[in-house]
Amino acid sequence: MMLIFGLMLLLQTAACLEFNCSFDQSYACYAALGHKLNLLMVLDASEYDLKIIKIINNTQDDPVCRVKYGRIRDCDLYNNRTEVTINGTLIIKRVIRADSGNYKIILIHSGGTETSGDLQVIVEAPISSVNVSTSCSSNQSSVFCSSDGDPITYNWTLNGEILEQGQMVGNTIQLDEGTDGNISCSVKNHVSHGQETISVEPCPGELLIHECPHIC
Ligand SMILES: *[C@@H]1O[C@H](CO)[C@@H](O)[C@H](O)[C@H]1NC(C)=O
Ligand SMILES: *[C@@H]1O[C@H](CO)[C@@H](O)[C@H](O)[C@H]1NC(C)=O
Ligand SMILES: *[C@@H]1O[C@H](CO)[C@@H](O)[C@H](O)[C@H]1NC(C)=O
Repeated sequence: MMLIFGLMLLLQTAACLEFNCSFDQSYACYAALGHKLNLLMVLDASEYDLKIIKIINNTQDDPVCRVKYGRIRDCDLYNNRTEVTINGTLIIKRVIRADSGNYKIILIHSGGTETSGDLQVIVEAPISSVNVSTSCSSNQSSVFCSSDGDPITYNWTLNGEILEQGQMVGNTIQLDEGTDGNISCSVKNHVSHGQETISVEPCPGELLIHECPHIC
C-alpha cells in the first residue's frame, strides 16, 4: 500500500504541472511554483498593441511588458527571464513566487478600440510528499501529518471513513483508545494534492504496565 502511494507521489512530482488561465476569467489564477503557467490574453496578438502591467504601487513605475502587433517592445516585467515567452499568450515555463500578484492588461486593437482586464495570480508550491507518523502518550495515540509545499487542507480517514476535514487545523489527530486500522492523511492546495496511509495499532498502554511490574 505504502509503496503504491510512494510511486504515485513520485509520478506526480516528476510530471510537469501546467495551468491555463485567461485574462477574462473572474476568479483568481492559481499557478504551481516551479511549473508552467499559460496566460491567455488574446488569440491573435498581431492585431493588438497590448500591455501587461503588474500592479504594485498603481503608478507609472509599475513594471510593464508591452507587446505591439506580436512583437515585444518594452518589457521590464519579465526582464532577463528566458523561461518567459509572450505574445498573445504569456507563457512562464517555471513560475516563481514573485509571479504572484495583481495584473492588469490593456488591449488596444488596431482599429482603435481599447479593452482591459484584471487578474490575480496566486502561486502555491505543490505538495510532493506527505509523511504520517504516530506516537503514544498515556495510552492514547496521536497521529501527525506533515507535508512539503503549501498545504491548505488536511483530511483524515480511518479505514476509509472520514475522521476530520478542514482548513489547516488538523495536522494532528487524537485517536480513541484501542483504535487500529489504516489511517490516511491527504493534503491539498489549489494546485496539487498528496496522500499517505499507514497502519496504526492500539498503544501498549496500561496493559503492559500491569503485566511487567519488574521491568517497568
Ligand atoms: C492548457 O492549454 C493547452 C493549449 O490549449 C492544452 O494543450 C493543455 O491541455 C491545457 N492544460 C490544461 C491543464 O488544461
Ligand atoms: C506566439 O509565440 C509562440 C512561441 O514563440 C509561437 O509559437 C506563436 O506562433 C506566437 N503566436 C503569435 C500570434 O504570434
Ligand atoms: C537584466 O539585465 C540587465 C542588462 O543585462 C541588467 O542591467 C539588469 O540588472 C538585469 N535585471 C535583473 C532583474 O536581473
